[in-house]
Amino acid sequence: MNREDFPILTETVYGKPLVYLDNAATTQKPKAMLDALTDAYLHRNANIHRGVHYLSQIATQQHEAARKKAADFIGANSEKEIIFTKGTTDSLNMLAFCFGEYGIHQDDEIIVSQLEHHSNIVPWQMLCQRKKAHLRVLPLDSNLRINADAVETLITPRTRIISIAHVSNVLGTVQPIENIIRVAHKHNIPVCIDGAQSAPHLPVNVKDLDCDFYVCSAHKMYGPTGLGILYGKEAWLNILPPAEGGGEMIEHVRFEQTTYNTLPYKFEAGTPNFIGSCAFAAALDYINSLGRDTVCQYEQQLTAYMEQQLAAIPEVRVYSPGTDKAGAVSFNVYNGERLIHPFDVGTLLDRQGVAVRTGHHCAEPLIDYLQVPGTVRASIALYNNQEDIDTLISALKRAITMLL
Ligand code: ALA
Repeated sequence: MNREDFPILTETVYGKPLVYLDNAATTQKPKAMLDALTDAYLHRNANIHRGVHYLSQIATQQHEAARKKAADFIGANSEKEIIFTKGTTDSLNMLAFCFGEYGIHQDDEIIVSQLEHHSNIVPWQMLCQRKKAHLRVLPLDSNLRINADAVETLITPRTRIISIAHVSNVLGTVQPIENIIRVAHKHNIPVCIDGAQSAPHLPVNVKDLDCDFYVCSAHKMYGPTGLGILYGKEAWLNILPPAEGGGEMIEHVRFEQTTYNTLPYKFEAGTPNFIGSCAFAAALDYINSLGRDTVCQYEQQLTAYMEQQLAAIPEVRVYSPGTDKAGAVSFNVYNGERLIHPFDVGTLLDRQGVAVRTGHHCAEPLIDYLQVPGTVRASIALYNNQEDIDTLISALKRAITMLL
């Protein structure tokens, strides 16, 4: 699908054509996004929300139009519900801080799951330490998906919030978040969805999901680095206090007392990433122009093909085979019962031009649960094709003959 729109895909590494299968870490960039980035710097570079002059006004309009586009992309009710952050990690840290100030007290409980990325564990853990609260962990089922049936048993009168991944960044598995949200809401508990790995692949609609918060990163969605979204239902954002003070997030500042700006600006201290937002809007336009359902269907077929081809190699063990996945497949290579270290496999793939990620993927509790030192993860984007997968498979077979 539209490979020619991504200039980097013509690069070679070690004299081999680049086969980029590390898209869960970051996606490559379409020319339309790169052009929008340069164009904004060349023609509309002025600080926003603070100038009467022409450039500042068009830069402001462009930034706010990007916010509206992001709101529409994830199905938010309004652009007031979209806070621009530095990325998913920043969004989760901000939410954990704001939510903690609003309503976490000694012996309260926060629920995450066994398969979370560190970004969806550590900010909550830090909050628990600060407030003497407790982190509770949802277990996994036999397919290594979050066990939705366990939610009801883990919820207590002290549960204050649940924060879980939509798609596992290690396994690529789609989590039963709809069930979890339904059960949580029955108990009036808000749910935050880590959408870092779902927003690039699935046609997400936060209104249909009815999640209270949703976070994602632009750089995993063909957009620029350093920009992300924290979506929150307006009612929640109105009651949460801001995490950072500074310019633009205020209404009036007096030494006696400061009052805060309206949504979403209350949460956006300092000069916003107005060039990044403009480039992100171009990336979203790009995905929309291809059709989100078309992209999703194409990627699902390609992911299934990748999993099938990997599973057909006798020395390869795929994690969560046959489970609904969005973009990523994790596996390890075994010589009988002896695991070949994923770094060795990844290094030999790299030398053949194939880029994958190896290791714990910033999800050590999941890797510990699997009782392995790490996995090899191949993850696709809309520009990958069957030929990329075939190259991965032949490179992997060659690596296996060298390692066994
Ligand atoms: N969170 C990114 C990944 O899973 C970096 O690779």
